[in-house]
Amino acid sequence: MLNMNYFNLGGSYLFSGIAAKVAAYIRENPSADVIRLGIGDVTRPLAPAVVEAMRKAVDEMGDADAFRGYGPEQGYEFLRRAIAENDYQARGVDISPEEIFVSDGSKSDVANFQELFDASCRIAIPDPVYPVYRDSNLMAGREIVYLPCVEANGFMPEPPACHVDAVYLCSPNNPTGTVMSRPALENWVAYARREQALILFDSAYEAYISDRSCPHSIYEIPGAETVAVEFRSFSKTAGFTGTRCAYVTLPDTVAVRGADGSLHRLNQLWLRRQTTKFNGAPYIVQRGAEAVYSAAGRPQVRAQVAYYMENARIIREGLGSAGWTVFGGENAPYIWLKLPAGESSMDFFDRLLNTVQVVGTPGAGFGKCGEGYFRLTAFGDRNRTAEAVGRIVAKL
Ligand code: MLT
Repeated sequence: MLNMNYFNLGGSYLFSGIAAKVAAYIRENPSADVIRLGIGDVTRPLAPAVVEAMRKAVDEMGDADAFRGYGPEQGYEFLRRAIAENDYQARGVDISPEEIFVSDGSKSDVANFQELFDASCRIAIPDPVYPVYRDSNLMAGREIVYLPCVEANGFMPEPPACHVDAVYLCSPNNPTGTVMSRPALENWVAYARREQALILFDSAYEAYISDRSCPHSIYEIPGAETVAVEFRSFSKTAGFTGTRCAYVTLPDTVAVRGADGSLHRLNQLWLRRQTTKFNGAPYIVQRGAEAVYSAAGRPQVRAQVAYYMENARIIREGLGSAGWTVFGGENAPYIWLKLPAGESSMDFFDRLLNTVQVVGTPGAGFGKCGEGYFRLTAFGDRNRTAEAVGRIVAKL
């Protein structure tokens, strides 16, 4: 028998649907010069230090003495140690290598993590949101409480009046480009502790935070170490969208109750899940990720982030000074554009593609509250990004 919950999903995954629409347009207009600012896919090449580390690892794999087969499902110790030291301990957060789980991407991590929870759990999800949180929980048949993120609350999800068992938070946010303040995160940690709810904190875009008062990790908030799991990725930090490497941080102190009231450490359950269903990210890729933290790699990946943030500035200021209302783009590589009153985001998608051959992402694809908005990514090529802004300002 089929899992009928699949029929509660939209017809296609957001970005596959958009890609199909763009492909159809190009088939009909083969000479159109289309600029893609839709899916948040990076365009800068891998940092030289990363490439060099991966080449060295390839050589090892071709050498009988250095060759490696299956690696540890949790990730090699060298990478988990580099992550714990650089991403946490350097910020005063006490996370050990044993609390890090390296994977092949945050998309699969955020989608898979819900497997640890019973189908009866009630899950809170911001609206609009990265569609993977919603779709993976719909597939499991869970009840979802949507948290409206609108202009009036600064696009910041607020704790609901009711109990939920888990909540997804994403900061800096995809798609609105806003970043959660320390007080907002403190409020969520207090809610989670009171309600015995788990926070699933997606900080895939933390490298884009420029506001020094905003936390990069949920564990910068005291008390979060008992109620939060964090998802991080090398995709947007170091251009690994095609290379695939990410990690889940799960302190030993996070425990959740079963239906019989017994308390269980999530760290051990996630290890059990990963060792059963995952055979580890490739050695070559993990060596590349390790190089992100090297003396040579660090400034190189910082330069990539700066490149994209300059694109964000070009879009934000270019459209802003032409009279558009824009949000985000200061602590995140996404610009959230407010559309003219009455125009649906799907109609705007078509108008943008047909009039100036620019692709973006309709806000409605991220949830009901995304209607009336449109997402542009700063991950494009610099000249093409400037060209897209020029076309929009000139013709729309
Ligand atoms: C996006 O465009 O929202 C992201 O690139 C999707 C992803 O990271 O999977």
